[in-house]
Amino acid sequence: MDRKIKVTVFNTKNWVFDSFLQMNKEFEFELDFQETRLYSKTASLARGSDAVCVFVNDDVNKEVVEILHDEGVKLIALRCAGFNNVALDKAKELGMEVVRVPAYSPYAVAEHTLGLILSLNRKFHKAHPRVREGNFSLDNLLGFDIHEKVIGVIGAGKIGQTFINMMSGFGCKILIYDKYENQEMKDLGAEYVSLEELYGKSDIISLHCPLTKDTFHMIDENAIDQMKRHVMIINTSRGKLIDTDAVIKGLKSKKIGYLGLDVYEEEEALFFEDLSETIIHDDQFVRLQTFPNVLITAHQAFFTKEAVMNIAETTFENIKNYFIHGRADNTVLF
Ligand code: NAI
Repeated sequence: MDRKIKVTVFNTKNWVFDSFLQMNKEFEFELDFQETRLYSKTASLARGSDAVCVFVNDDVNKEVVEILHDEGVKLIALRCAGFNNVALDKAKELGMEVVRVPAYSPYAVAEHTLGLILSLNRKFHKAHPRVREGNFSLDNLLGFDIHEKVIGVIGAGKIGQTFINMMSGFGCKILIYDKYENQEMKDLGAEYVSLEELYGKSDIISLHCPLTKDTFHMIDENAIDQMKRHVMIINTSRGKLIDTDAVIKGLKSKKIGYLGLDVYEEEEALFFEDLSETIIHDDQFVRLQTFPNVLITAHQAFFTKEAVMNIAETTFENIKNYFIHGRADNTVLF
């Protein structure tokens, strides 16, 4: 290419702007930062760009892919691992490539998962404001030993395995449900079991599988029925793995003892924005927050210094390899 590669970066937040500008000293792309999310009404902002760079909550549906194609975009570069928000069939039909950042820090997500477990169990988020107000009572702060508890991990890929390594260090028994078995995990003492067995035996269930047609709403009423009373459920993977109606019912009946979420079914309308001065119309989300045993973070599990710089570097390498070396690395498999 005898000119700079032009990339429209949608959904630009401060961390994207800072890390991309720093990384661009090395790559020298022409970057067009857009604050807005990518969706049908904003897609034409990419006019004249070679690539667009998008995140988990951009809506790259069929119509959007068509508009991007018509505007001359050749590459859709996801700056995240998940790709359930992209109409892959349409991109393939139009000969567009879709690349992603398959791994930027499994530690970031696994450590956040552990943070949710420890906070829900030992109630740090409640203890801190209490102590600040001079309330030193221990009422309602009773936790449990994580040591020797049964941890059910659904999806033991990069993040799941990192999490399993941590939980092994706590002396937990690990049960895994995954399509593929991994010898390293078995050597660690983890056991591959059916979903039914995992649901029936786990004290803590953590989701680390991708969102697909098979995994959509996998945690539904039927799944919750099979779980232990007072089970802890943690989801740092994708919101739509959980049927929110079903978990609200499970929380009301006390079948679910603890719920930790970094992702939420309808998070696109909420997360990554400061809505503190607006009215939240999502009643289910508001209901979830009324439970004393629910802890929600807004899709921040990935958010460490290391992960952010890795995201910028891999995204830029993906773009450079495609346009300069004619090679598509980290493509999303169709
Ligand atoms: P990975 O691809 O390394 O592992 C996914 C694992 O899930 C694989 O072992 C795969 O065999 C398994 N799997 C696929 N379909 C399954 C099914 N139907 N049932 C059970 N297991 C199944 O992915 P990685 O890097 O570990 O990421 C996992 C998920 O974490 C991603 O799909 C993404 O949704 C989420 N994620 C969340 C982040 C956050 O900030 N909250 C950041 C990064 C990823």
